[in-house]
Amino acid sequence: MNCLSKLEHPQLDLIHRGKVRDSFRIDPNTRMIVVTDRISAFNMKIKTPIPHKGAILNGIANYWFKQTEDIVPNHVIEQIDPNITLVKEAKPILLEMVVRGYLAGSMWRAYEKGVRTFSGITVGDGMHRNQKFEQPILTPTVKSATDDEISEEEILKSSLLSPEQYADMKQKALALFQRGTEVLAKQGIILVDTKYEFGFLNDELILIDEIHTPDSSRFWNAENYAANPAKAEQMDKEFVRLWLIANKKDGQYVDVLADDVVAETSKRYADIYQLVTGNEYQARTEALLKDIEQNLTKAGIL
Ligand SMILES: Nc1ncnc2c1ncn2[C@@H]1O[C@H](COP(=O)(O)OP(=O)(O)OP(=O)(O)O)[C@@H](O)[C@H]1O
Ligand SMILES: [Mg+2]
Repeated sequence: MNCLSKLEHPQLDLIHRGKVRDSFRIDPNTRMIVVTDRISAFNMKIKTPIPHKGAILNGIANYWFKQTEDIVPNHVIEQIDPNITLVKEAKPILLEMVVRGYLAGSMWRAYEKGVRTFSGITVGDGMHRNQKFEQPILTPTVKSATDDEISEEEILKSSLLSPEQYADMKQKALALFQRGTEVLAKQGIILVDTKYEFGFLNDELILIDEIHTPDSSRFWNAENYAANPAKAEQMDKEFVRLWLIANKKDGQYVDVLADDVVAETSKRYADIYQLVTGNEYQARTEALLKDIEQNLTKAGIL
């Protein structure tokens, strides 16, 4: 299958290989983010890539970066290939600005065990799984191996950024979430929760990393949610997760997917792309690696 599992080239300087993306140094001010076709589920790396997932996620992120420029400037310089974006190197603020509209995912799992305070925010008793909050809440975490929660008070006491800078970042994160919620609602999608990363470019706060992609956010189908809120599942990964649950080996999840699961998952990403951007996903017709090389050459990188 014509997939991008990772990008390697003797002329490319890899700075970081995450679960999904490979990042390269172009020059001190420029970073190249390659969104591969890798997928993770249950926080586990899956060995089988999903055709088109990388191009779709890169396209979705860049759609949102454009859609939200009026709220906050961002790191995008140029998309030079369906899977690849050149971005401005920023000084990252080591926080993940998590915004949640609903009590779901890891927060629900902790709530169920009795936890009520999250990143310094206390939520009431008697809430149900996947219940909507009256107002979206911000539950920041520290960017580290363990992603620990951090409260606003702790952030303000830390030397991460000044109170004015934090207030600005908070306001922008909430405004981005509101924009995402409104735009997706028109397409029948609920933006359940997401995380933003910001950085400084000179002294200006900019949005970095990715925005409102299925990898950084949870999307629910609004109709499914209305029919049975507690059963709402992440639109993109529901299929993979159910399959993994049904196909455990010796009580463990397998890390290789069956062909039909791969095909269906790929199709679901293409559907999400169309719902989000309003455009049909156009797959490249050229051989993937050859085309990428050509685009890197055109951009003056190879
Ligand atoms: N414009 C930018 N300037 C500087 N750093 C950036 C920029 N955009 C993204 N980053 C950083 O690049 C890294 C991208 O890592 P990536 O998300 O691929 O993997 P990860 O966060 O280590 O792990 P995971 O795969 O679980 O997300 C993040 O640490 C992010 O903060
Ligand atoms: Mg990341």
